[in-house]
Amino acid sequence: MSSEKIIIAIDGYSSSGKSTMARRLAKTIGYRYIDSGAMYRAVTLYAMRNGMINSDGSVATDMLTAALPAIHIDFKVQGDGQQTMLNGEIVESEIRTLEVSNHVSPVATIPAVRHALVRMQRDMGESKGIVMDGRDIGTIVFPAAEMKVFCNATPERRAERRYKELREKGADVTYEEVLANVTERDHIDMTRKESPLRCADDAVMLDNSAMTIDEQNEWLLRLFHSIVDK
Ligand code: DC
Repeated sequence: MSSEKIIIAIDGYSSSGKSTMARRLAKTIGYRYIDSGAMYRAVTLYAMRNGMINSDGSVATDMLTAALPAIHIDFKVQGDGQQTMLNGEIVESEIRTLEVSNHVSPVATIPAVRHALVRMQRDMGESKGIVMDGRDIGTIVFPAAEMKVFCNATPERRAERRYKELREKGADVTYEEVLANVTERDHIDMTRKESPLRCADDAVMLDNSAMTIDEQNEWLLRLFHSIVDK
């Protein structure tokens, strides 16, 4: 097997199971995992806490753009998992609420936010050996990534997964609210001007609506070996 480390980009729709797949693959092959969505969520939490979300839900873009140099995002490895850090504070559970989910897509449409985060993401991938998941990893962040996957599943299946996850964490939400959020985010992610969600021409597509997590992991690991064992 080649010992050269590669970059693995896993993109796809919200709640398409890409984070679970990406995290497990990284663990199995000994690579670093980066959840780029967590970075957009951390910026959104910062905006919410600092009065940068207007009462109509729009974002105070100029204020947030000016604040970007003061926003530091990092990941702390803890046991089996990773904790997202915002200016030194662990915000892993705060960034997963439905409130953050409801505000994150508009924040992710702001070009200055995207530029700042893409820069950080490229720095994180400098020495390769990384699995990064998101929306624009194979198209914008690492267009030369050696392995690219684009995940999808039906909106209903994705909402079901996210609903279960939120309920397990004790959140008081209904399935209908989660489905509405998933559909709304798909729309914003696909139609935004700045790096919209799209499948890279050289990505391998995976519809995992009917796959178990184990089946997805096996599929991903086979693809990885077909690339690095050449
Ligand atoms: O994967 P997620 O649901 O945690 O992502 C949260 C939001 O961040 C999602 O609505 C779109 C945005 N995002 C993005 O625009 N680009 C990325 N690379 C990752 C996430």
